[in-house]
Amino acid sequence: MMDYTDRHFRVLMRQVSRHALLYTEMVVAQALHHGRCEVLLGFDPEEKPIALQLGGDEPKLLAEAAELAQRWGYDEVNLNVGCPSPKVKQGRFGACLMAKPQQVADCVAAMQAACDLPITVKHRIGIDKQDSYEELLHFVDVVAAAGCNRFAVHARKAWLDGMDPKQNRTVPPLRYELVHALKRDRPLLTVELNGGLETLEDCNEQLKKVDGVMVGRAAYAHPLQWTLVDQKVFGDHSRQPLKASEVLRGVIPHAERWCSAGGRLWPIARHLVHLVEGVSGARYWRRQLSREAGERSARPEVLKRAAEQLEDRGL
Ligand SMILES: Cc1cc2nc3c(=O)[nH]c(=O)nc-3n(C[C@H](O)[C@H](O)[C@H](O)COP(=O)(O)O)c2cc1C
Repeated sequence: MMDYTDRHFRVLMRQVSRHALLYTEMVVAQALHHGRCEVLLGFDPEEKPIALQLGGDEPKLLAEAAELAQRWGYDEVNLNVGCPSPKVKQGRFGACLMAKPQQVADCVAAMQAACDLPITVKHRIGIDKQDSYEELLHFVDVVAAAGCNRFAVHARKAWLDGMDPKQNRTVPPLRYELVHALKRDRPLLTVELNGGLETLEDCNEQLKKVDGVMVGRAAYAHPLQWTLVDQKVFGDHSRQPLKASEVLRGVIPHAERWCSAGGRLWPIARHLVHLVEGVSGARYWRRQLSREAGERSARPEVLKRAAEQLEDRGL
């Protein structure tokens, strides 16, 4: 998710789950073509397995980006065919590409030829008036024919005319039944469902009908809620649920490396404030962490103190 699932948040989530596949924010292929690779592609090996999500509509640029993804050590390349933002639409990529399945297929084929990584596609169930199941199936069939066999489907359509991105994540109704039908009718494809999943129970319910689930906002807003995912979804019973302080301590080595290399603490700490909620004193703890970590000169010791405070409370 743009502005949210950056490398620091991913390190946090990797403490929460050893097994879940993590995605980058969307990186525009054109931007990679113009350099800035370290900023756009840099990640910590502990984040793996990790998918690089690309935005773009030109096979040549996307192929170049996919090749870079392989060189940088990513595990997968995912093409964004779901973003409805006007800026992305103006660039002729994101959700508006659902109207051009052959172009998406050409992009997928070019990316596949350029690297050995799995190429997957994230898309909507439809856009504007192109919202029938037949049209969804046609889109998937054309893209699958180019060699993509994993699809992450945001189970709501996007209105590209007249709705902003926020409305496009809430207003059009979720239609899980279309994603279930896709899996039923194309059993050889790997079909993942996204949209509106709030809890592990929601995920396990969907996993009865599809191959995978993708969680966005609920993972960001309530990271600690997912500490049982390795046990309850991936069946890894060696993993015990972590406390907030343990997750926080797990992030400290990353913070030390980041700050030693000249980075500021705040880009890391801004995600950590979501670790504590629903207990007395949570707001005070968050405020204090924000104030101290927001200082220009803040060092990882701030996080150590914050972890000690949680440990004193058994959190
Ligand atoms: C702030 C924000 C940024 C997002 N950025 C991206 C993005 O870069 N790529 C993408 O595929 N989806 C993006 N999304 C959409 C989410 O991945 C997801 O499809 C959508 O929020 C529905 O899933 P959820 O209900 O689990 O959040 C973004 C969503 C939000 C709220």
